[in-house]
Amino acid sequence: MSKHAILLMSFMLTLAVLPQTFATVTYNITNTAAQTLGGIRYENQIGYKYAKHALKSSNLFIWRIFQQRNKADRANVTLVHLFIDDMDGVAYCEDNKIHFSTNYIAGYQGDLNKEFSGVIYHEMTHVWQWSGNGSTPSGLIEGIADFVRLKAGYIPSHWVQPGKGDKWDQGYDVTARFLDYCEGLRNGFVAELNKKMRYAYSVDYFVDLVGKTVDQLWSEYKAAYTSYVVKT
Ligand SMILES: *[C@@H]1O[C@H](CO)[C@@H](O)[C@H](O)[C@H]1NC(C)=O
Ligand SMILES: *[C@@H]1O[C@H](CO)[C@@H](O)[C@H](O)[C@H]1NC(C)=O
Ligand SMILES: *[C@@H]1O[C@H](CO)[C@@H](O)[C@H](O)[C@H]1NC(C)=O
Repeated sequence: MSKHAILLMSFMLTLAVLPQTFATVTYNITNTAAQTLGGIRYENQIGYKYAKHALKSSNLFIWRIFQQRNKADRANVTLVHLFIDDMDGVAYCEDNKIHFSTNYIAGYQGDLNKEFSGVIYHEMTHVWQWSGNGSTPSGLIEGIADFVRLKAGYIPSHWVQPGKGDKWDQGYDVTARFLDYCEGLRNGFVAELNKKMRYAYSVDYFVDLVGKTVDQLWSEYKAAYTSYVVKT
C-alpha cells in the first residue's frame, strides 16, 4: 500500500471515529470575579487557555476511565460551564456548571495549575458519573470523583494514605483509595460500578462485581494496610 493510501485510510478512519469519540462538548468559561485577588491570580497564572485545556482533557480522560466510548453510554451533555466565582470553599458542580472559588485560588500554596486541574477532574466527573437516579450515597459519588483525580495523577499532599479512614463510604480521598483497592481486584471495577448505577443503586453491586460484600472488602482493605510492630 502506498504511503498516500495509508494516510487516506487513517484519515477516513479518523472521520468515522470522530463523531463518536469527540462528540462535541462546548466549554463556556466565565470569570465573574475578575476584580478579586483570586480572580486576578486566575487570569495571571491559569487563564482561559489552560482552563479550557483542563476541561477538555479531563473530559476525554473520564470517558476512558468510565469506558463511555459512545454517546449512548454517556449523559446527554453538550455544554459545560466553568464559572470562576467569588465564593468560599473550593468548587462544586451543579447542572453541568462548575463553580470554582477565587478565595481558594487566592490562598492556594503550592502548584496552582496542578491543583486547578485536579479539582477540574473531580468536578468534571460529576458531569459524567451516574448517580442511580440520585440514590447513590454521596460518599460514593465523591469517592468516585476523587478516584478519577487519583488515576489522573493529581493527588494533593493533604490526602490520606492508602488504608486510612473509618468507613468505606466516608467519601473523597478515603473512598477513592478504597475504590483503587477494588480496582486492583478487578480491572475496570469503577467503570463497571458506574455503569450499574445508571438508573438505580444497590450496595450489592460490590458483590456482583467481586463476589464480596462491601463490608468484607473494607475489612480486607484495612487488614492489607495494617502494619504489625514486632517486638524483639
Ligand atoms: C456563556 O456564559 C455566559 C455567561 O453566563 C453567557 O452570557 C453566554 O450566553 C454563554 N454562552 C453560551 C454559548 O452558552
Ligand atoms: C439531549 O438533550 C437535548 C437538550 O439539551 C435534547 O434536545 C435532546 O433531545 C436530548 N437527547 C436525548 C437522546 O435525550
Ligand atoms: C428518578 O427519581 C425521580 C424522583 O426522585 C422519580 O420521579 C423518577 O421516576 C425516577 N426515575 C426512575 C427511572 O426511576
